[in-house]
Amino acid sequence: MKKIGVYTSGGDAPGMNAAIRAVVRMATSKKLEVFGIYQGYTGMIDGNIHQILPRDVANIIQRGGTILKTGRSAEFMKADFRAKAAEHIRALGIEGLVCIGGDGSFRGAHALWEEHKIPVVGIPGTIDNDIFGSDNTIGFDTAVNTALDAIDKIRDTAASHDRLFIVEVMGRNSGHIASHVGLAGGAEEIFTPDANTTVERAVERIKDSIQRGKSSSIVVTAEGQKPGRAYDLAEAIRKKSGLDAKVCILGHLQRGGSPTANDRILASRLAAAAVEVLLKGQSDLMIGTEGQKLITVPLDVVVKTEKKTSMDLINLAMALSI
Ligand code: F6P
Repeated sequence: MKKIGVYTSGGDAPGMNAAIRAVVRMATSKKLEVFGIYQGYTGMIDGNIHQILPRDVANIIQRGGTILKTGRSAEFMKADFRAKAAEHIRALGIEGLVCIGGDGSFRGAHALWEEHKIPVVGIPGTIDNDIFGSDNTIGFDTAVNTALDAIDKIRDTAASHDRLFIVEVMGRNSGHIASHVGLAGGAEEIFTPDANTTVERAVERIKDSIQRGKSSSIVVTAEGQKPGRAYDLAEAIRKKSGLDAKVCILGHLQRGGSPTANDRILASRLAAAAVEVLLKGQSDLMIGTEGQKLITVPLDVVVKTEKKTSMDLINLAMALSI
């Protein structure tokens, strides 16, 4: 193997740059040339692929976003566009790919391997942490800390005005950000798509807490939670209890910012391992973490399996926010 490619795909996540840097530098130390594929699968289809040298990735370990840019390509879901992408890869003599992204990106990577036998190894990069086969994904720790910083600030104003706040965090259909931020931020209630928290329980908990002398509360809700989004939840709580809730949707600010030390370390370890795995001639795998260990998991298993929100975290948050 002489040449490999690297791309970031799906929603950007802090730490993706640290991963790109590690791929380029580890590969270079193994005498490989590295090509950056820009804007994820869009760049692969369009042939927007350029060599990256170790100096090109200087000073990016601390930067959020991704220097390779990213995207969600609808075209790549079609076989003829994947064939076009595979042609570009082969024409440049690229013999292996490192895909940094989430499950949509891994579906594409798996298809490239299945249909065109282009070796590809994935590393999980998404703030959502919703990837089966890895305890943590690149960007999750930073996003949780960013959301937590916001919640700490909201607490100041909530306490000053004796108010109830509903804070909506990202996570698409998952509740990992919400459960972690809820526990770390001392939330009085947490809604996630799979936790089955009800408006009734939330109202009961908040009313009880008021009786016990609490004057302000924070409810953390995942964007994909049922019933409805943050404003629907505020309205449902108001209807059930007469309590007026302020809403704060944290949104895309959770995707930006300098990666935490944990995310930089995770990104560097996963990326270096991905290069090693490609060099061993393996493909169609994701590198993940299990505790402190790095593991490999087949991409089709990763994309077919759901990673559930930890109910233990939510239950502990409930037990502690009395
Ligand atoms: O997957 C990361 C994520 O930030 C999700 O939490 C969110 O639902 C989604 O991306 C938003 O995507 P976009 O930026 O494309 O609207």
